[in-house]
Parts: sequence; structure tokens; C-alpha cells
Amino acid sequence: MPFYYKLGELPPRRHITFYKPDGKSLYREELFSTRGFSGVYSNKYHFHIPPQVKEITEIHPLQVKDWDDAPVQYYHFVTGRKVTPGNILTARQSFMRNSGCNISTAHITEEADFFYKNSQMSELIFIHHGSGKMYSEYGVIPFSQWDYLIIPKGTVYQLKFDSYENVKLLIIESPTPFEIPRHFRNEYGQLNEDAPYYERDFRPPSYLEPHFEEGDYKMIVNLNGRHFEYMVPHHPFDVVGWDGFLYPYAFNIKDYAPKVGRLHLPPPVHLLFWTQNFVVCNFCPRLFDFDPQAIPAPYFHTNIDSDEVIYYVDGDFMSRKAISEGSVTLHPMGIPHGPQPGKTEASIGAKETFEYAIMVDTYAPLKLTENVKDTLIEGYENSWLEV
Ligand SMILES: [Fe+2]
Repeated sequence: MPFYYKLGELPPRRHITFYKPDGKSLYREELFSTRGFSGVYSNKYHFHIPPQVKEITEIHPLQVKDWDDAPVQYYHFVTGRKVTPGNILTARQSFMRNSGCNISTAHITEEADFFYKNSQMSELIFIHHGSGKMYSEYGVIPFSQWDYLIIPKGTVYQLKFDSYENVKLLIIESPTPFEIPRHFRNEYGQLNEDAPYYERDFRPPSYLEPHFEEGDYKMIVNLNGRHFEYMVPHHPFDVVGWDGFLYPYAFNIKDYAPKVGRLHLPPPVHLLFWTQNFVVCNFCPRLFDFDPQAIPAPYFHTNIDSDEVIYYVDGDFMSRKAISEGSVTLHPMGIPHGPQPGKTEASIGAKETFEYAIMVDTYAPLKLTENVKDTLIEGYENSWLEV
């Protein structure tokens, strides 16, 4: 999505004959597109016929229940308290969700013995801990700590970690694509000079030798809130070449270049991606506001249209107390929030911050799951009372 890209072997034009080395049988073109035929797309060239499937079986992975009577209040919970062993599907623990957003963490302890295809949601996977390689039809993306992986809805992929000793992922899912905000791009789509990142910061897949093997390959497909096991008669990564704008890519949070102002700048300056239902911002180490009278900590504010979720990655967060790595705070829409007592004063005169955190602001209220109840820090809702 950041730019046009191509890999592997391609015919000179679209929608024409493209023969395998035997000169008789055809490679199979597949248009992989968004918004019908009107959004961004890629063309992939398969060795096998793409819809081939031998068996389809519905499966029922364990799903956490909603916390139906969760009060409307401020929340602080610790995702590291919810560790369930498993793979990229079974280790996922959802904490907050609505029809336009699902926020989960996963402590992955084993490699999946299947290929995963989330046809319901595009995924932003933040690698909090771990390193490895992401394999897909588009190629391979090596990843390491604090990389974001952006995976378009419908991409068949596998994550293989170098070690399963300490893997922690934050997974944000969206039914609409994670897009680079319009104002970061010029009229040709190129990133503007004042955007907080540059095309060179995005890492598209590298070439992966295609697999032509036939056999029984298990693919888990997630669609319409249901999961199905597709038994496919060939290796899913049989693409000899592809081109277009729709493909997975990686970006590291350390490559984000935050902006600094004379006075406090609001969260939109930390914007990373947007979707139709929420925005993703990231807070990174930066110099503080430079006016001699500036208050670097944020002012109290009421976002009447956004639930505000912050996932804390590392460092000492300037406006909150008792936050640890993997903590999440949720400040619901319609009630004010801001720095806890003492944090405003402590920020005056401070020159810089070393915090790393990821924020999701949704446009519709989030429903909490019982995972929030299980990992709650009690009393956070009263923590603005002066002591
Ligand atoms: Fe806020």
C-alpha cells in the first residue's frame, strides 16, 4: 500500500497468456483487490488454480466472552497477566472490540501447523517481543522487536519465530485497511516531506522461491466471525510473481520521526495509520515543548467521540503512574481524562521523554471482554483523587 512494488516473474501485460516453462500450461492470474474493483490491488500469478480446496470443516477456537456489565469508567489492566500458550490463532486474547476494531495480545509459544488467512480483518501486528520471519504468497519479511507488520485482509501467511521463549504480540484488527493518512501524501501518493516516515522506512516482502508441491495443506480461514479449516491440495505459496499496491509490509516504531512544538501538540502529530473506524498513533522518544512556560504533560480533555486506548511498550510514561510494560489504559469517550496528580507539575521544565506507547482512538465505543476483568488494576478509576 505505501507504493507500487513487484517481485518475481511477471508477463509483460495484464490479462494475457503466461505459460509455465513447459510452454503449454498456464500460470493462473489472480486479482487481489479492495473496494470491489475500485480500490488498491495486486495481481498474483499462481502455479495452481487458486480456488482449489479438497475439504472445508468449521472449527470453533475458544473465544473470550464479552464483559457485559462493565461499568463506564477509566480502566487500567495488564495484558501480561493473560498468558495462554498457543499459536498465532489459539494464543490470541481479545481485550476490547467492536465491529470496526479488535484489540488483542498473544504470547505465542508454538509454531502453527497451518497457514492463516484472516479474511475478516486486516491486521496490524506489533512485535513487542520476538523476532523471526513472516512468510506469505508475496515473499518473506524478516521482523524483529518493535516492528509493526501490516497484513491486508485475506493474505495467507505464517509467522515463524526464531525462538518461542518470549514472544509477545499486540494485534489490532480492522475490517477496513490500515492506511497512510491522506495528509501525509502528495497528490501522486508519495509521502510528503513533513510526513513522520518515508517510503524507505517501509519494508516490503523479499523474494521467496515459490512452492509447487502438491499434498494436503491446512489453511485456517477466518470470515464472518467463524473459522474454517480448508484442506488445500497444494502449497499456498505457489506465486511466481506479483505486482501492485496491496501487500504486507513492516515498519519499525523506532523509524517514526515525531514532531516537537513550542507548546503541547495534540495526539494527531503522533498519527501512524488510520482506518475507517479508528486511528493508530504512537508515542516515541522526543524532545519536549520548548517554550519556557510550556507544560509538556497533556491538558485534561474530553473526547466526546473517541474511546482512547493506550498500550504501553517501554519507558516511563509522562502522564501516568504505576504503568508497566504491557499495561493498557482505556479512557472512554464522553468523560474527561488527563495526567494523574503530580504528573503535570513534574513535567514542567522536563526536556525530553523516552516513552514508547501505541494509542488507538476508536470512533465507536469498545466492548470489553472478560480478559479486562481478569487483568484489572483495581482503583485506577479513582486515581485522580488528590492524596
Ligand atoms: Fe487522551
